[in-house]
Amino acid sequence: MLVTLKDILTDARDNHYAVAAFNVVENVMLRTVLETAVEKQAPVIVMGLADDLKGSGWTYIAGLAKLAAEYHDIPICLHLDHCYDLDVIKQAVDYGFTGVMYDGSSLSFEENVKMSRAAVEIAHPHGVSVEAELGHVGGSDLAETQHVESVLTEADEVTKFVELTGVDALAVSIGTGHGVYRSEPTLNIERLVELTKATDIPLVMHGGSGTPDDQVRNAVANGISKVNVFTEERIAMFRGLKEAAKNDRIDPLHVAVPALN
Ligand code: 13P
Repeated sequence: MLVTLKDILTDARDNHYAVAAFNVVENVMLRTVLETAVEKQAPVIVMGLADDLKGSGWTYIAGLAKLAAEYHDIPICLHLDHCYDLDVIKQAVDYGFTGVMYDGSSLSFEENVKMSRAAVEIAHPHGVSVEAELGHVGGSDLAETQHVESVLTEADEVTKFVELTGVDALAVSIGTGHGVYRSEPTLNIERLVELTKATDIPLVMHGGSGTPDDQVRNAVANGISKVNVFTEERIAMFRGLKEAAKNDRIDPLHVAVPALN
């Protein structure tokens, strides 16, 4: 069933577990994520990035996800990931997304408040939840051509930010990074404990890929309610497709199935 980001994460925060959130760019990824979640009987968040949804992606991904959510009996949220443009937030609301992320983490605190609040004003009247980001989760792209430094989230800003914006979930920076890590991260759990105390809303970990399992577990035990993953999926899919391409059977399913696995 299709549920909002707020619904899926409130239960997670109240019951001290985290929901996995996976980016998808097409049908095979969407099916893989949903079928795995059904197999595990776990709630799941499927996310799209504006660049990946461009053109027919909006219709295909949103349409498929909503249909599949009706078909499966687990809670499924359709979420717009990292969005910097309020017009795109409006578009996601129109396409039936049940969560949107406005990412103002590169802006000043005041600008971030203003824009995140504006996203809430667009989304909430339609029953759509909003995630924002405070502090900044940096990282590298897959090719490691670019590296952006992270800025840890400050606990004293969290309470004020949530109060002023009315957002439903908050992405925090506690030592993870997007993409491939240059060296193993060490999460700042002490800081996370302070952030968890500073607000009642669910906290989100970006840059889940490559973060050691024990550190992810520790973060979930200390207040993280959503864990975002994309890079590991992309690597796994690419490996599956390369493997499938080794045989010369001209059968699309034969190519897709190893990627599904
Ligand atoms: P990774 O690609 O590092 O898993 O990060 C995903 C993410 O945070 C998407 O918002």
